[in-house]
Parts: sequence; structure tokens; C-alpha cells
Amino acid sequence: MPTPPGRISSGLPPLDDAARAHATRVYRHICRHIEASGGWIPFAVFMDLALYTPGLGYYAAGARKFGSEGDFVTAPEMTPLFGRTVARQVAQVLEQVGGDVVEFGAGSGLLAADMLDELERLGRLPARYRILEPSAELAQRQQQLLRQRSPAMFGRVEWMATLECLGSPAAGFRGVVVANEVLDAIPVHILVWRREGLFERGVALEDDALVWQERPAGQSLQAAAGRIGTVATDAGLQYVSEVSPATTALVGSLARGIDRGAVLLMDYGFPRAEYYHPQRRAGTLMCHYRHHAHDDALFLPGLQDITAHVDFTAVAEAGVDAGCRIAGYTTQAQFLINCGITELLAHTPAEDIAAYLPQATAVQKLLSPAEMGELFKVLALSRGIDVPLLGFVDGDRIGRL
Ligand SMILES: C[S@@+](CC[C@H](N)C(=O)[O-])C[C@H]1O[C@@H](n2cnc3c(N)ncnc32)[C@H](O)[C@@H]1O
Repeated sequence: MPTPPGRISSGLPPLDDAARAHATRVYRHICRHIEASGGWIPFAVFMDLALYTPGLGYYAAGARKFGSEGDFVTAPEMTPLFGRTVARQVAQVLEQVGGDVVEFGAGSGLLAADMLDELERLGRLPARYRILEPSAELAQRQQQLLRQRSPAMFGRVEWMATLECLGSPAAGFRGVVVANEVLDAIPVHILVWRREGLFERGVALEDDALVWQERPAGQSLQAAAGRIGTVATDAGLQYVSEVSPATTALVGSLARGIDRGAVLLMDYGFPRAEYYHPQRRAGTLMCHYRHHAHDDALFLPGLQDITAHVDFTAVAEAGVDAGCRIAGYTTQAQFLINCGITELLAHTPAEDIAAYLPQATAVQKLLSPAEMGELFKVLALSRGIDVPLLGFVDGDRIGRL
């Protein structure tokens, strides 16, 4: 089999031999899967293989991923003030219900380290800080970072590979679940609406290359499309977008597992009416390779992140169907301001330019509507909590879901 073609490689940084060899191994693995499946796989299967195949997938092999030397930068990588601010919301819930913190998809481990620092300062350290991380490679990196950064608290941190981290369903979970930029990394199905009907876009092999190929959508995707309603396919144009049954299943399981507490979901995305807006007719799929964002998801599998925006209405519905309440929904900027990020920034004197400037620049990026402030949202689901959550006291947008 040939090396996978770098179709959109113009404009992207050149690949070294090791990277090309790795992409070829991932490509071969995916080809075998396509052949074993009769020549076609749904995009969600492709995304799962490209991101999570143990030892090969983007999140499950050795690539740098996070930070300036990786492919993208997440909020916890930009400033410790993000994790410290989120910790204030976590502390408020822990004060109400006690219990543990569970973090989903902890990336480099920085969010955990920053939250633990702040929870200690606030006198609200949970007995256990559990991390659910499907990638063994990332779990190892998180352990290294937390052992080094937080040796006194390391004993409280536990790693789990499954939802058992919420405890037995009978006992129920008490505490807070946090997930930052996790839902966008969960596999999505691609739907194509045309006048002739609804199709699913998947991946096939043609002349030893990965190609897009469509099949009529099956029953469960027809049902998902039914919940979305009418999209703008007029004038014979097609409308392409994504749905993520895996995301709603995950949120449903999480919400069902909670006895008293809250789930805080932070990610980029929109309510349904904006997600499936007539102007967004090419969908929201996005790939990240060395700080270049593009939309060719078949490019060098295993070497790049593949993401889709989050339909927060679908996520909220999954939580409500599982018996939780929507405790808040707002922009990341509003949530961070409500939780006091500017106060935390003010603890560094502005005269100390070397310390202040990088923090102020990062906070500006987190809050600016043109950067991460408006596109990123925070959704809180809760059960058994009766106080308004700190992060949503001003600017709640539940009505837009
Ligand atoms: C874009 S990274 C975000 C990392 C980190 N939260 C941050 O903000 O820097 C996505 C993370 O989600 C994890 N992940 C993907 N699917 C998951 C799932 N079903 N449950 C828990 N974590 C998951 C990945 O392994 C990875 O750690």
C-alpha cells in the first residue's frame, strides 16, 4: 500500500520521515478496517480509528498535541487562571454536596493541576480527584505532570478508563464532573440532506486512497435528523452537517450516574438552531495540524486532531432525559467573569509586567468575543442542588437552547 497522499499538504508544515511512517501505519490499519467492513465505514468509525486506536490514533500515540509545540492550544494550556476560575465553580458545588471531582479527558493534566491548587487554596479539596482518560498514553503524561506539579495532592488523584469512575449506579455519584474540550473530540456521523433524501457520508477506498462515499442514512440517523427538523436544502443544494449519538449517549450515562452534584461541560458549539443554520451548510468538521486549521478530515490520519462543534441543545436534552436539570448555559466569557477571572488576574500586580502581561493576554483571548469568549460555551447539568450556580448568575442563555 502506498503512503497516504498529503492532498492538502501545500501550506502545511512538511512531514518528517517518522511522522509519514506513522501516518502510513494508521492508514493501513484503517484500510484493513474498511476492507473487513465490506468497503465502506461511517465517518464516526473512521474518526474513532484515527483518534483512538491504541498505539496508533492521534490521542493514543506519542504526538505532542497540546501547547505551542503541538497542534492546538486549549484554555488550560494558555493560563492557570482558567483552571483556577473553573475551580471556584467546582468549590461552590462541593460546598453544597461534598463528594469527589471527576475530570473527563484531562489532556496534558494542566487543568487538574490548576484546579487542585485553587481548591486547596479555597479549603475545598475533594477526597478524590478522578480522571477518566481513554488514552493510556495521555494518562501517563498526566501522571508525570501531576506527580511533579502537585506531589502533596498526587495521592488523591486516580485514573480510570471507564464510567465506573462515577461509582456504582446504585450508590450514585456525589460531586462535580468537569469536561473541557472533550465533547468536540467524540466521533460524529456526517449527514447529507438532499432533495432525494438523507444520506450518510462515510469513507471508502479507491485506487489505494481514502475517499468520501455516501450511503442512504439508516434508521437511527433518520431519527436523529428528525429531531433536528428542516434544514435549508432548497434550490437543489445539499446541506451537510454532523450528529453525535456517542456524545448524547455519554452525557446521558453521566447524567444518570449523578445522585447529587453537577456536570460542567465546556466546549465550542451552538444551540441547535444556530448549529443547523442555513448559512452553516458545510457542517462544522475541523482538523488541527501544527496550528493550521483545515477541513480535510481524511488527510494523514493519526497525525491530526479531528473535531466537530457541539450541539448544546442535543447535550442538554440528553441530560434532561436522564433526569438532570439544566443549571446554566452561557458563553465561556460570561462564565469566567461570573466566577471571578478578572479578580484572580488582579492578584498579579500590573507593574510586574513580565508576570502580568502573559496572563492578561491569555485572559483577553479567553474572554474576547472574536476569539474564545463567544464561540465557547459552558453548560451545567445538575441534580439535587438548589442554589444558583456562580458561573451563571449573569447572562444565562438557557432560553436559547
Ligand atoms: C481536545 S482534548 C482536551 C484535553 C483537555 N481537557 C484540555 O482542555 O486541554 C480531548 C480529550 O478528550 C479525551 N476523550 C475523548 N473521548 C473521551 C471520552 N469518551 N471520555 C473521556 N475522555 C475522552 C481525549 O483522550 C483527550 O484527552
